[in-house]
Amino acid sequence: MPTTAAVQPHSRDRDPPAEVILDVKDLRTYLFTKRALVKAVDGVSFYLRRGETLGIVGESGSGKSITALSLLRMEPKPAGRIVAGEVWFQGEDLLRKSPAEMRRIRGRRISMILQDPQTSLNPVFTIGNQLTEAFTTARQGISRARLPQVVVEVLRKVNIADPERRVSTYPHQLSGGMKQRVVGAIAISCSPDIVIADEPTTSLDLTIQAQYLRLIRQLQETSGVGIIFITHDFGIVAKMCDRVAVMYAGKIVEHGPVRAIFNHPSHPYTQALIHSVPKLEERTERLYSIPGQPPAPGEALVGCRFAKRCEFADDRCRQEYPPVFAGRSGHQEHTADCWRLEDPTWRPSLR
Ligand SMILES: Nc1ncnc2c1ncn2[C@@H]1O[C@H](COP(=O)(O)OP(=O)(O)OP(=O)(O)O)[C@@H](O)[C@H]1O
Ligand SMILES: [Mg+2]
Repeated sequence: MPTTAAVQPHSRDRDPPAEVILDVKDLRTYLFTKRALVKAVDGVSFYLRRGETLGIVGESGSGKSITALSLLRMEPKPAGRIVAGEVWFQGEDLLRKSPAEMRRIRGRRISMILQDPQTSLNPVFTIGNQLTEAFTTARQGISRARLPQVVVEVLRKVNIADPERRVSTYPHQLSGGMKQRVVGAIAISCSPDIVIADEPTTSLDLTIQAQYLRLIRQLQETSGVGIIFITHDFGIVAKMCDRVAVMYAGKIVEHGPVRAIFNHPSHPYTQALIHSVPKLEERTERLYSIPGQPPAPGEALVGCRFAKRCEFADDRCRQEYPPVFAGRSGHQEHTADCWRLEDPTWRPSLR
C-alpha cells in the first residue's frame, strides 16, 4: 500500500538567509586621464543577496556610477581601467570573462535601468517592437507565436493600462511616467537576477521621480530581482533599500542594514549625509549642507578621505586609512571605517 508522506508541520522563526548572488571584493577602477590619475573606485567591497535592494549613496563624484559600470565591465573608455578586484556572480569572476561572455551577461542576467527614459527608448520603433527585440535578445526560448502575448503580459506587469493597444504606440505618444514603465519592462524582460538602477543627480521633476521610485519598488515585488539602487539622497535610501553602502571619494566608508545606519550612524560622513536630508515635519529655513568639498579628481589621497571636512579628525586620520570597525548599532553586518570607533563609547554627533 502506498504511503503518503506525512505533512510535517514546520515553524520558522525567521526567513532563511538569502543566497548572496553578487560578491564584489576590493574593486579598483582607475581613470588614467591626461591631467591626472583618478582613483574613482579605490578598493570597494560589497555583496547583494537574492531579492534584496542595496543602496549605494554618496555625494556627486564619489564613484557610484563608475562602480556600477565596472560590475558590467562598462567602465568609461579609454581612460577607465579596472586594475584590481573580483566580482563573483553565479560562481564566476566577471572580471575574468571574455568580452563575448560579458555580452551574454549584460541585459540578460544583469540589467541596468537609467532614470531618464529618453536615453533608453528608440524613438523610431514602437513599444511592441522594442520589447519584442528585448525578449529575442534575451533568448528565453519563447516561440515567435507566443511573443506578442508575452509582451502584453510584461507591460501589464509594470502597470501599463490597456497594454494591447499600447504595443503599437511610439515612445513620444506616451507620458514620461509611462515611458519609464516601458524601460522597466525591458529591464525585466530577460528575468535578470540583478537590476542596477542609477539615478543621476540632475533629477527630473518630482512627479516623475516619485513614479520612478514606485516602479523600481514594484519591479522588486513582482519579479523578486536583486536591485542595486544608486542615489545621492539618503531620504530615498530610507524608502527603497534594505541595506546601504555609503561611498566617499572612491571608498565605502560605512555599510549596513538601513535601519541600523539610520538609528546609529557611525561614520561622521554618514551622520552628516543623514542630517542633510530635509525632514518634512521641520520647516528649516536652510538645509544643512556638509562644509567643504570632496577631494578634487586626481588629488593625492592619504589617510581617511573625509578627514579634511571632519570635525573629529586628528593627525592619524590624515595620515593613515582606518581599519574596518563594527558599527554602533551592534548589528553584525554594520561596519564603518573611522578611527574614532576605537573608543567604544564614541558616537559622531553634530556640534
Ligand atoms: N569619463 C570620465 N573621464 C574621466 N573622469 C571621470 C569620467 N567619469 C567619471 N569621472 C570621474 O570619476 C569620479 C567618479 O565619478 P562617478 O561618475 O562614478 O561619480 P558618481 O558618484 O556617480 O556621481 P554623481 O552622483 O554625480 O552621478 C569623479 O571624480 C569623476 O569626475
Ligand atoms: Mg553617477
